[in-house]
Amino acid sequence: MAEQKQITLTINDRKVLVPSGTLVIEAARRIATEVPAFCYYPGLSLQAACRMCLVEVEKAPKLQTACTLLATEGMVVRTETEQVKQARKAMLEFLLVNHPLDCPVCDKGGECELQDMVFRYGADSSRFVEEKLHAPEEKWSELVYFDAPRCILCFRCVRVCDEGLDVKALGVGARGVHSSIIPNAGDHLECEECGMCIDICPVGALTSGTYRYKARPWEMQYESTICTHCSNGCKTTLSVRNNAVLRANNRDLSGINKEFLCVKGRFGFDFIGHPERLREPLVRRGGKLQTATWEDAMGEVASRLKGAHQSHGAAAIGFIGSNRTTNEENFLLGWLARGQIGTNNIDHHRTADYAGLAVALGNSARESMGTIAQLDQARAVLVIGNDTGQQNPLVDWQIRAAFRHYQARVYIINSAAIKLGRRAKVEVRVREGDEARAVKWLAGGEAEFSADVAQQMAALKSALEAESDVVVVFGAALRGAAIADLVKFGARLPGRTLYIALGDYANSRGAADMGLLPDRLPGYAFIDDAAARERFGKLWGGAVSSTPGLDARAMLGAAESGKLKALYVVGANPVRTFGLNAKRPAGLEFLAVQEMFLTETAAMADVVLPAACAYEKEGTLTNTAGEVQMLRRALNPAGLRSDFDILRILSHQLARVGVGSAIHVRSVEAVFELIRGSVPGYDLPQAGLLAGGAEASAAAAPKNGHKTYDVPAELIFSARDTLFTSGTLSRYCTMINSLPEAAQPEASQSKAGQSEAHLQHTTTSKQASDQP
Ligand code: SF4
Ligand code: SF4
Ligand code: SF4
Ligand code: FES
Repeated sequence: MAEQKQITLTINDRKVLVPSGTLVIEAARRIATEVPAFCYYPGLSLQAACRMCLVEVEKAPKLQTACTLLATEGMVVRTETEQVKQARKAMLEFLLVNHPLDCPVCDKGGECELQDMVFRYGADSSRFVEEKLHAPEEKWSELVYFDAPRCILCFRCVRVCDEGLDVKALGVGARGVHSSIIPNAGDHLECEECGMCIDICPVGALTSGTYRYKARPWEMQYESTICTHCSNGCKTTLSVRNNAVLRANNRDLSGINKEFLCVKGRFGFDFIGHPERLREPLVRRGGKLQTATWEDAMGEVASRLKGAHQSHGAAAIGFIGSNRTTNEENFLLGWLARGQIGTNNIDHHRTADYAGLAVALGNSARESMGTIAQLDQARAVLVIGNDTGQQNPLVDWQIRAAFRHYQARVYIINSAAIKLGRRAKVEVRVREGDEARAVKWLAGGEAEFSADVAQQMAALKSALEAESDVVVVFGAALRGAAIADLVKFGARLPGRTLYIALGDYANSRGAADMGLLPDRLPGYAFIDDAAARERFGKLWGGAVSSTPGLDARAMLGAAESGKLKALYVVGANPVRTFGLNAKRPAGLEFLAVQEMFLTETAAMADVVLPAACAYEKEGTLTNTAGEVQMLRRALNPAGLRSDFDILRILSHQLARVGVGSAIHVRSVEAVFELIRGSVPGYDLPQAGLLAGGAEASAAAAPKNGHKTYDVPAELIFSARDTLFTSGTLSRYCTMINSLPEAAQPEASQSKAGQSEAHLQHTTTSKQASDQP
């Protein structure tokens, strides 16, 4: 890429060096000079509506708007002269003409940009004596309320919904002094309910149904942590008062998602205090689950596991782990199963073939795995077999940002229409299940398609071959050999190709990276890799078996036939996931479950251990692109234990009854240190993590003992979650479930398709003629 020309300008007597094309408002930010702005918002189109950013520019006859003015060589700017201050004060007086001045009861009071500006510029009196126009507050949805008199018509909400979300649910009605923001369905919203419009509103005109009138900003504590609903790993700030979460927003706009959160991340936290949340351990007595003390429950688990171990051996015990527990918890579960009990019967619900990608990339994994943080800078993106808008909202947001800012070309191979199709340069619609065949053809293999699809595929291939750099994101439709084909095709493209496998849950990637797989150790070392076995055996204080264990389905089958006697489930619901029809496997003698709710699996267990949720514990999570981030405890869950503590206690109880050696680790941090030292790709700098940033890991499969093989679709499959669902957690999110859109996600999808028509953007295999 050609190097961008640098120019020098002077702002408030300080020289500033910026790339040409920089706006004066951004140049000022480089030297920590804040120019007041209401309508300007980085990343959105320029509006120049509020006139708050007026600055003096030498030789210009009148004040200029810093948000639309490009910095030029030698330009001299002053941002705080008397004339500028008077102009801002006058603008504020004008903005307050119809404003109700109800700061003492407004949700935004204390963190309102308008309030701050009035304090700063002293617009404390008004020359307007006319009666203010009033309009009643409007409820646009369960989550979005609008108070028109507070609105300063900056249009941030309209633009974020249109440009950022591509939903276009907000517009402007009427003219002049009667202008008002209006929702798309007349008097209510039919949209994605993301709350981005509320978050971006500089004043209290848009307020949240879950937070309004509940608290003042200074009454709450703030904890930065990671959203727990999907695999994209958005950073979020939980606002907490009296040990309860009152709202979630990414308050400091930092991290991989900056201001973005989808509906689940922003509003999906009431599962924490759901009345059905498990609060005490349960032990089955007389056929019924009854409350028990932690001591009794843990003692029961240890003695029953010991019984199975003694009578039938380690191979009669199995573990199904979670794709939402932390890396440290997953590592500990593998240690307990393999190092202490001595079985490789360990698996989880795999929602993407991360192992397949690690094997296909081999030693080039480190430089070939893309990150979500990089995606918004992409120049070309190929999406295969995933509805990113529904299943990976942040990935979708990032791709749209790349489209807006860099005119990124979007290519799609999918079986259904997806919202991102509006932005596609070439979209190929294959039959469901044909994604792998399409990739095989791209890699030079034989594959038959209908004439239409063959034509689209040819157009897609030649367009991709003309791209310099491509980021490929793909879902569970590609596994094993198909991923190897994809990497083969990617290697033939002229530029750099990066890959992101798209899984479903908060730590799906971490579960795989930490070795919750029957045939792979942490870091994807194949189980026949003697050196890796020795390394982990030494760390775990017990020899690791070289025989691959049973996968999740095989474990459930063996439990039915009586070969597997005891099953230990952590944060998973295999009965529902693998469709067991709520029937406990006939030959299973003991079932223990660590869970937050009495799921279908927990309901048939012998012991249920109530676990803390992600917002109640610490640890690290790895998002679907391999970016590791830290969870921070925002709440103290009375009576519950983290999965980490439960596993640690269980290990000691087992050692006490003579099963293996106890795991001696004191803290989550100590386990993370062990992970850093033993799992390839995880030797990450800690400073960035501690500061709340994301660090990209890249677990690469070692060559020893590896081959590409296809894991069957029954083992790797997407949960097909939508914007409003995330498995167990969303089932207990009362607010999200009350939304009409949550009841009919297909309807909101098809609405996305309908509004496609009037956009006149390209869809199927035709060149995008209107790319910006
Ligand atoms: S909630 Fe989200 S989708 Fe709905 S109007 Fe606001 S920004 Fe648009
Ligand atoms: S509702 Fe808020 S974001 Fe939207 S135009 Fe009014 S002040 Fe701006
Ligand atoms: S995109 Fe995923 S991680 Fe981000 S807020 Fe939504 S559910 Fe949470
Ligand atoms: S911020 Fe420049 S005109 Fe509004």
